[in-house]
Amino acid sequence: MKPKIQVAKTLDELSVAAADRITDIAKDAIEKRDTFSVSLAGGSTPKSLYSLLASEKYRTLLDWSKGTFFFGDERNVPPDSLESNYRMAHETLLGPLKIDPHRIHRWRTDFQDIEKTVSEYETRLREFFDGSTPGFDLMLLGLGTDAHTASLFPHTAALQETEKFAVANWVEKLNDHRFTITFPVINNAANLIFLVSGGDKADAVASVIEGPLRPDKPAQKVNSENGNLYWFLDEEAAAQLKAR
Ligand code: 6PG
Repeated sequence: MKPKIQVAKTLDELSVAAADRITDIAKDAIEKRDTFSVSLAGGSTPKSLYSLLASEKYRTLLDWSKGTFFFGDERNVPPDSLESNYRMAHETLLGPLKIDPHRIHRWRTDFQDIEKTVSEYETRLREFFDGSTPGFDLMLLGLGTDAHTASLFPHTAALQETEKFAVANWVEKLNDHRFTITFPVINNAANLIFLVSGGDKADAVASVIEGPLRPDKPAQKVNSENGNLYWFLDEEAAAQLKAR
């Protein structure tokens, strides 16, 4: 299905547009199945979106207690680290919404045992999705300047993973592992939302959406086989797009 691209002037406007779409998706899932599942993005771009979703206006739009929250990726740091995607999302979204901790599935980096962290998360995904390939109602994704998404970085082993749902991915340029879900999970989501802001991402955005297929542009492998793919961009991030 062709990606749906929405360009907003600023990150704040972008966050409003994404928040409107997200709440519609969640409300639709609740209407159909009385629940919704989300894979959250990390990094800094989603912070304003998460704070907005936890604000009075959006908090009252749906019953957030029916949501279950996973993380598309995590850094190899403790959950209370300033680098932690879990910490960022808990401070901006999950805490303010008072989400039941049993409905929050973070990568257990506190194990300080990479293989244990990965196998526990894989098990958690398989249990929640009854052993099938996880099919999130909504998956939020960011984009790096190198066209990585989640922690699927160029030239890393996880790009080739077709069986496992969760892996530890060695990222040479970071000299560290990153925990990430894999493309089988990403591409099985009902709704995929990229949230991208800033001129430093413009080249990556254009190369992923319009450029020739290249193995060093991981986000090109995101496709909405089973659902909708949305790009929420600010003007700067969309600057090199030919078609909008
Ligand atoms: C992470 C993210 C990563 C992020 C992009 C964009 O752990 O950093 O999951 O994929 O979405 O790197 O990050 P920014 O939003 O900080 O630019």
